[in-house]
Amino acid sequence: MFNTLSPAAIDPILSQTLACLQDPRPNKLDLGVGVYRNENGKTPVLQAVKTAEIRLVQTQESKSYVGMAGCERFNQAMISLLLGEERQAQNQRDARVVGVQTPGASGALRLMADVIAIANPNATVWMSDLSYANHAPIMRTAGLNVAYYPYFDPKTKSVNEPIMLSALSALGTNDVVLLHGCCHNPTGADLSYGAWQALTDMANQQGFLPFIDMAYQGFGDGMEKDAAGFRYLAERVPAFLVASSCSKNFGLYRERTGIAVVASDSASKSLCIKGRIMECARSTYTMPPDHGAAVVRTILEDPALKAVWLSEVSEMRQRIHRVRAALVASLQHQTGHHHFDFIGQHKGMFSVIGANKEQVMRLREEFGVYLVDGGRINLAGLKESDIPFLAKSLSVVMV
Ligand code: LMR
Repeated sequence: MFNTLSPAAIDPILSQTLACLQDPRPNKLDLGVGVYRNENGKTPVLQAVKTAEIRLVQTQESKSYVGMAGCERFNQAMISLLLGEERQAQNQRDARVVGVQTPGASGALRLMADVIAIANPNATVWMSDLSYANHAPIMRTAGLNVAYYPYFDPKTKSVNEPIMLSALSALGTNDVVLLHGCCHNPTGADLSYGAWQALTDMANQQGFLPFIDMAYQGFGDGMEKDAAGFRYLAERVPAFLVASSCSKNFGLYRERTGIAVVASDSASKSLCIKGRIMECARSTYTMPPDHGAAVVRTILEDPALKAVWLSEVSEMRQRIHRVRAALVASLQHQTGHHHFDFIGQHKGMFSVIGANKEQVMRLREEFGVYLVDGGRINLAGLKESDIPFLAKSLSVVMV
């Protein structure tokens, strides 16, 4: 049966963790996978999560099945987090925006890609150049065409919005535009509010479908601010999709907790799309794991616990900001120039720092510094005490 099967491709992100684990050097740095670590190098279980878990253990009466769409209370709480409470109040009346709980945002991306492929086998998914390394494999495995729109300018390390918008102005009703809601992965370079406004007009005029990956809400400028561009669009376009993750902002990585959100121009159409997503879930894994979603629902439905969680997200965000500022200062000190100042302007966990293939390899081999090919570093995984070593390594290899 399997005699001609070729080996799997190496995962560009997860393989870094494994390689770093096997590296015996004590001062090695794993800046690969997008995982938050504190100053002690640990990825803690959040206090709000611990409290919710204790509450669940004490009160949960059954482990019976929940359902193909997962927990509806989780779905509604997550939609509220995405849209904002005011808009969700209106949504509860017109039911245009619906959700299906999924195993992480990757599960959501895949199920919605499956339904796009069923609805329109000729659809093309346009993604930013660069984009999250798993976006193209997910879309292609669902049978969709993948194309790239210009996004990251390697010279300025920011988004080239005029070129991006000009490329997207050619798209139409067979096209899906994949956007990062905030904290762009891998580059760290986010769209301006003005670009979200322009994209909204274009989606309305040209009829392409905006598909938003929201995996880091709260890690850029704050829970509400990070959603501002997306919310502008969501309030004005007839249809959109969102894949949202609780891995990072709830620290629930291994619990695989996410949601597929669908909005269309009518409640009945949204329900129809939701039904097809559930059908795809049924033929893939039947229904999502419960625990992470039960934790999130418990937190979001309790104002006091939600306040604890929000302050923990704020603490993580502030640590990332401190790390960014300290790395910029250390690189200025090491190199005597300001070429790395862009790291201070980027948002979220990641920055693409402009290291080429050979420099990425040298950082790994000479210094035990592991970053993802393409030059992505995870600043949320960096201890402040390791910054001088990283700055020194980068200054030797990249200057
Ligand atoms: C990352 O980009 O590092 C994370 O989203 C983890 C993953 O699943 O790839």
